[in-house]
Amino acid sequence: MTDTTYADTIDWDRYWSETDDEAADDANGSAEHVADALFEFVEETGVPDWHADVGCGGGALAFDVAARYPETAVVGYDAADPVLDANRSRASETDRENVAFERAVLPEFDPDRQFGLVTCFYTLCYVADAERALQNLYDAVEPGGHLVFTYHNRYARAVFEGIAESPEEHLDESSVWSPERFADRFELVVEGENLLSYDRIHDALGTWPRSVWSVAEETDRYRAWRQNPLVYVPK
Ligand SMILES: C[S@@+](CC[C@H](N)C(=O)[O-])C[C@H]1O[C@@H](n2cnc3c(N)ncnc32)[C@H](O)[C@@H]1O
Repeated sequence: MTDTTYADTIDWDRYWSETDDEAADDANGSAEHVADALFEFVEETGVPDWHADVGCGGGALAFDVAARYPETAVVGYDAADPVLDANRSRASETDRENVAFERAVLPEFDPDRQFGLVTCFYTLCYVADAERALQNLYDAVEPGGHLVFTYHNRYARAVFEGIAESPEEHLDESSVWSPERFADRFELVVEGENLLSYDRIHDALGTWPRSVWSVAEETDRYRAWRQNPLVYVPK
């Protein structure tokens, strides 16, 4: 197994080795919170031939996209080999032929092709150089395609700082995050080291992001949309 121990977040190899539930809520948020908006967005902007979901975790979103759009080839990328292995087993057990899983460790991302749709949900917050990650993700979008992602902004930092100061007070058994690991997991956000904003995204990519909710008008926004904006950047 490749060692992906990141100084700035938790050890995601260990995380996925220890979880026996690839659908764990705290690392599969996009299927629950983003999928409906993404489907509405795709139906408005066009179904891609190729979709890359980077930081795919347990693959819930990748499998949902592959099931909904059988003509789309979906590739889920993640840094953690254990979850990639589990996702590959699930793909072969369910005969899902239009989904595959590959390893990529952001900020590096250099796939051997471009994609009509590149997504990255709830993952940039674990990457110190989020701007370089965004540039590499955007490079992987084909002309006419879209990069769609969530990011943590300064409002997220304010909320997460408060939680990190006294996690036991804010997080109980019903929380998706464990109080013991919260401060380590979100160290970059709490320290304000990789926060993004519309200006920073524009500076990194040379194009302004736009809210996905401006296209996916029928879908309700998830609760934390102000601190975790859901945006797209056209190419
Ligand atoms: C909170 S989970 C989000 C999973 C999925 N995108 C979702 O929202 O349902 C974060 C995922 O990012 C992966 N990850 C962490 N650091 C990464 C990096 N530098 N490059 C790629 N993946 C990373 C973790 O292994 C984990 O699966």
